[in-house]
Amino acid sequence: MARVTELLVNGVRRRIDADSDRSLLSVLRDDLDLTGTKFGCGEGQCAACTVLVDGVATKSCLAKVGAVAGKKIVTIEGLAPANGLHPVQQAFLDADALQCGYCTPGMIMGAVSLLARNPNPSESDITSGLNGHICRCGTYPRVVHAIRMAAQKGGKA
Ligand code: FES
Ligand code: FES
Repeated sequence: MARVTELLVNGVRRRIDADSDRSLLSVLRDDLDLTGTKFGCGEGQCAACTVLVDGVATKSCLAKVGAVAGKKIVTIEGLAPANGLHPVQQAFLDADALQCGYCTPGMIMGAVSLLARNPNPSESDITSGLNGHICRCGTYPRVVHAIRMAAQKGGKA
């Protein structure tokens, strides 16, 4: 089995030693202690595990480390600048767009990817763009509101 010995995560080259067919989610959480990325279903059905790979929202439970080696991976821990929060994180707080918060990191990463593609999404664009992100607490209306707020403030910053 091929091994992967390095990943570029949040702008830092991280040494690992993992089978290439391990999930990115497993390596992030168990090897690199980046537990902001959540394990929900483990089979591509909830999007709680969403991270950015070369800027694209990616379900890390399905992505194999062998397929993302050499690509730029960003997790929720790497989103905020040193001096504050990313505009999408701030908008989620301002809109109170979370309850238990378990889906929130994945929602935020999905929103960042959406705003990079479409800086001024309609409500319908947001609903379809985040299709597949499951929130058991039912915060969907506030998530949509948060993303609209972030867009108005230039959320892809
Ligand atoms: S944990 Fe990856 S989609 Fe549910
Ligand atoms: S805030 Fe609880 S699952 Fe979404």
